[in-house]
Amino acid sequence: MTSPHELKGRDLLCLRDYSVEQINFLLNLATQLKQRFYAGERVIDVLRGRSIALIFEKPSTRTRVSMEVAAYQLGALPIMLSASELQLGRGESVPDTARTLSRFVDGIAARVRRHEDLEVLAKYATVPVINALSDLSHPLQALADFMTIYEKKGRFKGLKLAFVGDGSDNMLHSLMVVAAKLGVDIYVASPSSLMPRKDILEAALADAQVSGSTIKFAESPEEVVDGADIVYTDVWVSMGQEDLAEQKRALLRPYQVNAKLMERASSRAIFMHCLPAHRGEEVTDDVIDGPWSVVWDEAENRLHTEKAVLAALIP
Ligand code: CP
Ligand code: NVA
Repeated sequence: MTSPHELKGRDLLCLRDYSVEQINFLLNLATQLKQRFYAGERVIDVLRGRSIALIFEKPSTRTRVSMEVAAYQLGALPIMLSASELQLGRGESVPDTARTLSRFVDGIAARVRRHEDLEVLAKYATVPVINALSDLSHPLQALADFMTIYEKKGRFKGLKLAFVGDGSDNMLHSLMVVAAKLGVDIYVASPSSLMPRKDILEAALADAQVSGSTIKFAESPEEVVDGADIVYTDVWVSMGQEDLAEQKRALLRPYQVNAKLMERASSRAIFMHCLPAHRGEEVTDDVIDGPWSVVWDEAENRLHTEKAVLAALIP
């Protein structure tokens, strides 16, 4: 297992930059922290005296609350900042914001419209920068997802994850890079006009060669869901894509995850969604509220995986 010290001071912008050992280390640490939480250790003071700035340029329920609670349960002070209330919103540059915040806090988590801003933040900050969602990726959600998959399935290698929906989705990018590293097969059903970013796909394909996992694309949801162990979907219209809403809804209408589609999956298949869900669009009530659904465990695991990330990365 990688020593935790190997992650101290590191940024977490995209999990493609992390090794299999580092991802497994974070997942194992999250499991231990979850067990300790349930054993009654609500506060583990490993980050006592530290502060963490949480910058949000977009709305959030899960990430915002779980990060604040995670910091609190580790003994650190979370400072929630919406971009509009920072000078950033009035034109102060990202590098100057990074330089200033680094003099006050021990880590910065940011949810940004443009992934490039996160890279600039990381370049100029002298403290770890954590991606709390960008247009490129959502690493914190992917960690919670794979923790949940392991809890439900007890393994990674050889599992078939079917992603149904927007092939250019930030969530799919993160799922793909982690699946490829951990040996989970990922089958994507998406319109051919919505494909992942080329560099992400290439990174995932390279990792898949090492782990032996399969990455496949098809236009038919039925084809990819057949025999799947995990069926995953995300919203059709991501935050910031409101101007494309009508077009994407029309394109993605055949990609709804409903009970009829779920019947094609393995008899012990689970349904996953990063949330928030648009019920009646990408998923029907009978699926998200049905026996397949693990979405609330998945949401809860955001807390435990974020505690692991903060404990491992913040010096
Ligand atoms: N899944 C997720 O990141 O949810 P929020 O947008 O509510 O943070
Ligand atoms: N793809 C979605 C994920 C939300 C957690 C979005 O970016 O809005």
